This record gives sequence, structure tokens and C-alpha cells, in this order.
Amino acid sequence: MIDAGEFAPIYSQQGEIKFEALLESFHQMQYDAISIGTREMLMQRDTYNALQKAKASRVPLATLNVSFQGTRLCSKPLILRRGGVSIGIVSFFVGGHIPEAAKMYWALDASEKTALEQLAYARKNADLIVAMLHGDMSQTSAFVKRHKGIDIVILSHCLAELKTPVNIDDSLLLCAGSEGQYLGRVDVYRTGGTWSFANKLIPLDQTVPGDPLLISTYARYLERVAQLSKELTKKHDEEVAAQFPPVLRATDCQSCHSDIYNTWKETPHAHAIESLIETNEHQNPECIICHTTYYLKGGFVSWGKTPEYAGIQCTQCHGRMEGHIEFQSGTSQKENAPPVVNQDLCLQCHTPDQDDGFNFERDKKLVH
Ligand code: HEC
Ligand code: HEC
Ligand code: HEC
Ligand code: HEC
Repeated sequence: MIDAGEFAPIYSQQGEIKFEALLESFHQMQYDAISIGTREMLMQRDTYNALQKAKASRVPLATLNVSFQGTRLCSKPLILRRGGVSIGIVSFFVGGHIPEAAKMYWALDASEKTALEQLAYARKNADLIVAMLHGDMSQTSAFVKRHKGIDIVILSHCLAELKTPVNIDDSLLLCAGSEGQYLGRVDVYRTGGTWSFANKLIPLDQTVPGDPLLISTYARYLERVAQLSKELTKKHDEEVAAQFPPVLRATDCQSCHSDIYNTWKETPHAHAIESLIETNEHQNPECIICHTTYYLKGGFVSWGKTPEYAGIQCTQCHGRMEGHIEFQSGTSQKENAPPVVNQDLCLQCHTPDQDDGFNFERDKKLVH
């Protein structure tokens, strides 16, 4: 089992916690090797500490041409033995350059000599060579053409053109999708002196039973996230709350728009927090942001403190509606026009990842 990199979350406090939990789970799933890409580099100092922990817990780093503060991540190819075959695992960052924000810590050794030496070592000691390459399609294929004899190439960036494998100069290029949606499996056969391969993408959906060890790792992750959420709430109360006046609640609209209110109340939007409570994710800021109203911006703070802002309420779509009630009840002469509710608003939450079948014209009729 290997991972070619780009598994790190976008950097944030929660991202750091997630990153550690991911590495822990790689160990539990007995990964043989991982390599790093740009995202891992952008976790910076803590990436390295976390990766060192991963290394200590026997998830080897395979990246051969990258160093962190002058120390190379991996000094020679990993040689594994599986089913009577020795497999050389190599990994190169072929992406050309280290991202600007990561240059303080990370450096690249792009010399051909390094690559040639490492590949020669792998060929000498292994029957089959698997390379994890980090770069775009043209950088990757140029590398593969320059360095013949790599049997299987695993890409970290999932490129649309790789939904089906590509063959370049007898190297098979594969990619297993993104966001942990698939497990890529390659079966390897040897007849006489020639190799042949069969690959498939296994969807990691609800049909895959949970593993008790991983479930407990995830539960520990959620505990740490709940702690972080408490800290965010405290910070919000002390520093942020004053910047955002409280937004109006659905119940503030109920008296005049009772039909709309009653219809809305029966929609999934009104009950969106319940979906999180069911799986104990209601203290997870990454989920709360789309399942509540004005999270930490004058609306939802936490389930314990502000249940009245749970779910996707009227103002989340219609804007703050400042002055509207005063105008409609005759205590003020003018109101700010509410924003037009258009598709862009829905797509902030109905992203292709969350809802690939979203259709504005059809779905807007279902909101109330
Ligand atoms: C005091 C009564 C009253 C309250 C409370 C009230 N509205 Fe209205 N609202 C009206 C009236 C009257 C209209 C104009 C007639 C209509 O479209 O129903 C209106 C119109 C609207 C419109 C259409 C505006 C347009 O320009 O097309 C929206 C959207 C709206 N209200 C949202 C809300 C929301 C959200 C709330 C709660 C935050 C709310 N209203 C609270 C009375 C009220
Ligand atoms: C703040 C985030 C957010 C916004 C903005 C948003 N939605 Fe949603 N929507 C959700 C969430 C979360 C759910 C799922 C609720 C649940 O069941 O937990 C949902 C569910 C729905 C559903 C029900 C889907 C089903 O399978 O039953 C419809 C329809 C829908 N949204 C339409 C819209 C439309 C149309 C817009 C824009 C006018 C919109 N949504 C804007 C977050 C949002
Ligand atoms: C970018 C916004 C967004 C984020 C972030 C988000 N959700 Fe959702 N969620 C949605 C939308 C939109 C839907 C409705 C999808 C549909 O109708 O197919 C939904 C639906 C759901 C549902 C299905 C409700 C049902 O019964 O049909 C669950 C459960 C859920 N989300 C849990 C979570 C959890 C747990 C997290 C955090 C790990 C999360 N969501 C993060 C937008 C989001
Ligand atoms: C998920 C987003 C969403 C939520 C939540 C939502 N609305 Fe709307 N609302 C819309 C859309 C979309 C339209 C239709 C706009 C159009 O067709 O141009 C609309 C139209 C309206 C209108 C004017 C047209 C009409 O149907 O009379 C009013 C008034 C209104 N909403 C009030 C409310 C109130 C009150 C709530 C809360 C109880 C609410 N809305 C919750 C998206 C939302």
C-alpha cells in the first residue's frame, strides 16, 4: 500500500490535527510507503515533525530528491518483497520547483544524476520498479521518457486524463483519484520474463465496512476537533463577536411569512444540524460551516450556545435583511434591497463534491 502524496489538508489548525490523524491511520493500515507533494510541504514545520513521527512508526517516506532544512527525506529506494517478487519503490518530486511559501524549509535536488543513481540502485536490487511521481502530466511524462525501465508510475495529482491508465514507453501511469474516494489496486503477473498488469479503482463508499481501529482513530480526531471548536468559540466570544451584529433568525420572519416559514421548516435545510449530530460531527467546524447559519459571523457559535441558528435559515440565502422588518412594519421609510438569490449562492455549499447532481432551476423550488 502506498500513497503518492497530496493527502495533506489545506493548512489550518484543524488541518494540522487531521494531518496527524491521517498519518496515524496510514500506520494502522500498514502502508508500505508514502511520498510528499506540495500540500505536505505547505504544512511546513509541523509536516516534518509529523512525518518524522510517521517514519518512526514505520511508514517510510520514499521521496528521494527533496530535503527539509538540509536533511534528505529518504536516501535510497525502498526494496519490498511481496509474493516472491522484489519491488523497488522510488519517489521523485518532478514538479520543477518548490512552492514559494515552502522554500524556507524545503529544497529540491533536481539533478539528473541523483535520479539516475537512485533508479540504477532500484534496478539492481528489485525485479519491478514502482515510481511515485509528483508533477503535472507533461513533467511526469518527460521524466518517464528520460528514465526508461520504470514499470508502474503512480501520480499524486489526479488528472482527468488518467481515469484510464496511460502507457508511456512501456511504463504504466496510474492515478487513484482524489479525496480518498478510491483505492487503486494493481495486480501484477509475470509470464517468463514479461510483466503484465491489471488495475482497478475500488470506490471507498458506504459498502466498505468500517475498521474498529480506524473508527477509534477517527473518534479521537473528533475529540481533538471538539476541543479546537471550544477554543474557537472562546476566541469568538472574546474577539470576534463584536465585529458581527447578531443576524435575524427564521423565527423573526415567521409572523409575516408564515406560509414560507412552515414550508421551510419541513425541508432538510431547517434540519441540517441533525445530520451532523447523528454522527457526532456537530462540533466539527469543517462541517458546521455548511450546515448552520452565519457560523461565527453573527449567527451559529455552537450547538450548546446558539441552537437557534442551527440549519440553513432564511438569512443565509436572503442576506441580513437589515431594515426589512422595520420598513415592512412601518417604523422606517426605506430598506436595503435584499440580494437576489442566485445559483452562485447555492454552489457555495452545493459543491460538486457534496452534491454533484445539483440543479438550480429544479432545486430552488424545493427550498420553501
Ligand atoms: C413585519 C412583517 C415582515 C417580517 C417580520 C419579514 N418580512 Fe419579508 N416581507 C414582508 C412584506 C410585506 C413583503 C412584501 C410582500 C411579499 O413579497 O410578501 C416582504 C418581502 C420579502 C422578500 C421579497 C423581497 C423582494 O424584494 O422581492 C423577502 C426575500 C423577504 N421578505 C424575506 C424576509 C426575511 C428573510 C425575513 C426575516 C429575517 C422577513 N422577510 C421578515 C414583511 C415582513
Ligand atoms: C450554507 C450552505 C447551503 C446553502 C447556501 C444552500 N444549501 Fe441546500 N443544503 C445544504 C445542506 C447542508 C443540505 C443537507 C441538509 C441535511 O440533510 O443535513 C442541503 C440540502 C438541500 C436540498 C435537499 C436535498 C435532498 O437531497 O433532499 C435542496 C433541494 C437544496 N439544499 C437546495 C438549495 C438551493 C436551491 C440553494 C440556493 C438557493 C441552497 N440549497 C443553498 C446547504 C446549503
Ligand atoms: C461545502 C459545504 C458542506 C460541507 C463542508 C459539509 N457538508 Fe454535509 N452536505 C452539504 C450539502 C449541500 C448536502 C446535501 C447534498 C445532497 O443533497 O445531495 C449535505 C448533506 C450531508 C448529509 C446527508 C444528509 C442526508 O441525510 O441526506 C450528511 C450526513 C452530511 N452532509 C454530513 C456532513 C459532515 C459530517 C460534514 C463534515 C465532515 C459535512 N457534511 C460537511 C454541504 C456540506
Ligand atoms: C436555501 C436558500 C433559501 C432559504 C433558506 C430561504 N429562501 Fe426564500 N427564497 C429562496 C429562493 C431561491 C427564492 C426564489 C427566488 C427566485 O425565484 O427568484 C426565494 C424567495 C423568497 C421570497 C419571495 C418570493 C416568494 O416565494 O414569496 C420570500 C418572501 C422569501 N424567500 C422568504 C424566505 C423566508 C422567510 C425564509 C425562512 C423561513 C426563506 N425565504 C428561506 C431561497 C431561500
